Amino acid sequence: MRNLFLTLRIFVMMKIGRNDPCWCGSGKKYKTCHMALDEKIHHYELEGHIVPHRDILKTKEQIEGIKESSKINIAVLDAVEEMIAPGISTEEIDRLVHDMTVRMGGIPAPLNFEGYPKSVCTSINEVVCHGIPSKDRILKEGDIVNVDVSTLYKGYFSDSSRMFCIGEVSEEKKKLVQVTKECVEKGLEMVKPWNFLGDMAQVINDHAKANGYSIVVEIGGHGIGLEFHEEPFVSYVTKAGTEMLMVPGMVFTIEPMVNMGTSEIYVDDEDGWTVYTEDGKPSAQWEITVAVTKEGHEVLTW
Ligand code: MF3
Ligand code: CO
Repeated sequence: MRNLFLTLRIFVMMKIGRNDPCWCGSGKKYKTCHMALDEKIHHYELEGHIVPHRDILKTKEQIEGIKESSKINIAVLDAVEEMIAPGISTEEIDRLVHDMTVRMGGIPAPLNFEGYPKSVCTSINEVVCHGIPSKDRILKEGDIVNVDVSTLYKGYFSDSSRMFCIGEVSEEKKKLVQVTKECVEKGLEMVKPWNFLGDMAQVINDHAKANGYSIVVEIGGHGIGLEFHEEPFVSYVTKAGTEMLMVPGMVFTIEPMVNMGTSEIYVDDEDGWTVYTEDGKPSAQWEITVAVTKEGHEVLTW
């Protein structure tokens, strides 16, 4: 079956003549636009690597659209940063994210996404991700909380999250938050054309492990842009030289979930969303949306 698809894809590739208009809609001739890139990708594919299909590679215009969405996403997170403090409920964060996103012309992407009931995820301490805001959960001194904001604007999605330390936080929690941020920064350095997603995963996993932490296996990042979650699934536990080839035009998230203890997790069976660490130890996560460019990468949300 795989061979059949491969053959079909080669056939489709060959069908575009050198002087035909490029498939990307740039209006340029194929030979002066995507032809060299397609040939290079095809070469990796023949070597057995996973390569991105054309439909996940974003055009300049699409990346501009994602950037506009990202501006709202960042502004909302900046506003959360201003208001977050001991005594605030996670419901108040939800209201701010919802109202500000809508005021700026966007839609909070989590709201009603696969039945999710709120506009943002607020994940505190041993909650790994997908914590549901509630008026009963009041932030208190010593909490660490991830606020994960996802924005839809004029058809384009952006996604990022930050950690917040509420009041005075223990040294060990502070370190977890800091190291998790470093994981994203180190991973980002690996984002450039012709590297593999596994190259990024390896440095992230190595840094977490070197600090005695573990990385969640089952939940990872994702392609993003025209949909909230697109191909590929982005793991942070895979090995260098494996997983999808990075190609200009790919847009995906870097969002490792780093656990202080075991990587094991479970999902709350009552709400069906909240993900906890199995051992009850804290977990941290930072998330950015990044585009692979010809030269390297561009961070769209941070
Ligand atoms: N924002 C999460 C991510 O980074 C997804 C949350 S799905 C939701 O992919 F429904 F819980 F919002
Ligand atoms: Co995400």
